[in-house]
Amino acid sequence: MICLTLSGNTLESCLEEIEANRSYIDLAELRMDYLTPDEQKRASEFPEIAKLPLILTFRRKEDGGKCTLPERERRALLLSALDGDYAYVDIEEDVKKNDVEDKAREKGVKIIRSFHDFSGIPDDIYSRIYRLAERGDIAKAAVTPHTTQDLLTLFRISEELKDIPKIIIGMGDWGIPIRILYKKAGSLLTFACSGEAVAPGQISAKDLKLLYGADKVNERTAIYGIIGNPVLHTSSPMIHNPGFRRINYNAIYLPFLVDNVRIFFALAEYLKMRGFSVTVPFKDAVLMYLGNITREVKQIGACNTVVRMPGMWKGMNTDYYGFLQPILPDLESGRVKNALVIGAGGASQAVVWALRNRGVKVTILNRTLTKAETLAKLNLCEYDTLDNAHLYEGKVDLVVQTTSVGLYPNFDTSPVPDFHFTGREIAYDIIYKPRMTKFLSDAEKAGCTLHFGDEMLLAQGKLQFEAFTGYHYPHDLHPSL
Ligand code: ATR
Repeated sequence: MICLTLSGNTLESCLEEIEANRSYIDLAELRMDYLTPDEQKRASEFPEIAKLPLILTFRRKEDGGKCTLPERERRALLLSALDGDYAYVDIEEDVKKNDVEDKAREKGVKIIRSFHDFSGIPDDIYSRIYRLAERGDIAKAAVTPHTTQDLLTLFRISEELKDIPKIIIGMGDWGIPIRILYKKAGSLLTFACSGEAVAPGQISAKDLKLLYGADKVNERTAIYGIIGNPVLHTSSPMIHNPGFRRINYNAIYLPFLVDNVRIFFALAEYLKMRGFSVTVPFKDAVLMYLGNITREVKQIGACNTVVRMPGMWKGMNTDYYGFLQPILPDLESGRVKNALVIGAGGASQAVVWALRNRGVKVTILNRTLTKAETLAKLNLCEYDTLDNAHLYEGKVDLVVQTTSVGLYPNFDTSPVPDFHFTGREIAYDIIYKPRMTKFLSDAEKAGCTLHFGDEMLLAQGKLQFEAFTGYHYPHDLHPSL
């Protein structure tokens, strides 16, 4: 079940949140601690107007809520709210048996017994979850993973406790996979926010339902994902999830924030993942775990696509073709004979190799000359420093920007701010957030033909989709990234 955590301070605004999300959610949690004191007294009226199953929660400050009332007053308000027909009431682990619990049992309201840990995963998490569920209640553990290992531990704990009715929440960015894969983790429900996520680690009800189809995951669902650090800004789920759905493939694709590739491979085995995309900074780090790599991976020295094969993982590189695809007509017509590639990092390797493969004469410009030199020697190119960019004005057909300069949120920066485009060049930036970078807007002002990073992203994603599924990307799907 997908549960919307209501954040309004009046019953009316909570109702508005429900209405805006009704088609995405199965139930909602009324947080009495977010309500104004007057509205708290009206909480018993809410089930009648909300018209969907509700969890009643009055979270104390020490558990991450806002309630600072003396315990007796908090209990009195909860007790009175229970006059309404709530489906569940949340009672914290350390609260002794009291009239709220008695009333809930009498009325058949299910009890969620919860504990929170904002610093990590407590060592005694197993025994605590057992104890919480002892009286037939639903155990809820909201804990905070900080590493890939923590995430793996949480999935393992969930499996060990699979016969216990429970809700395991991984808070923060590291917990996102277990919140999306809550069914895989045997959790009764997952919590979602309304609209756009406003805090790290939040996922909107709309994304959980429509983008990920989290409530449809079952034991046969094939799991795919993307690893990176950072990774949560990625648009790749918007390419793959709709594609899977269109071909009726029971599969899900989600982001994994990773700090340790070796442990991620253990997690991938644990989840029986079928494949995953790889982004910065792991395109090199994955290589040593692959049993098989394509010629492109070998040549470029970077892998952005990993697929499961019998007994091993295979690494591919779809970046290079993804990069080429938007400019293929210009390469085939002979319009592009020489190019300037700005940057000599990981992304540049695929770009340079792709262009050289098409016979384009390439000059690599980089802030650090030695890196430009190394890459140039590997690919039979020329190289120079960024400061000499002006020497190439009017002499190249294509200028490709591969550095991280201009990436969100640094909208106003370009690695070559003083470069004068003649208007005859094709300018191509592989950054896709923002779509129009400073580099491209400078080129546009001069009248250049532009190519955007999202064209490359989509083209490489479509190829990945083929590697993942064996099918072409549905031609009538046009993801907006
Ligand atoms: P990626 O894998 O995304 O290419 P990378 O390997 O860290 O990331 O490479 C980043 C590229 O952006 C490099 O070419 C880097 O130049 P240096 O080799 O001199 O570090 C370039 N870059 C990053 N910040 C830059 C800046 N402020 N000005 C100019 N170039 C920059």
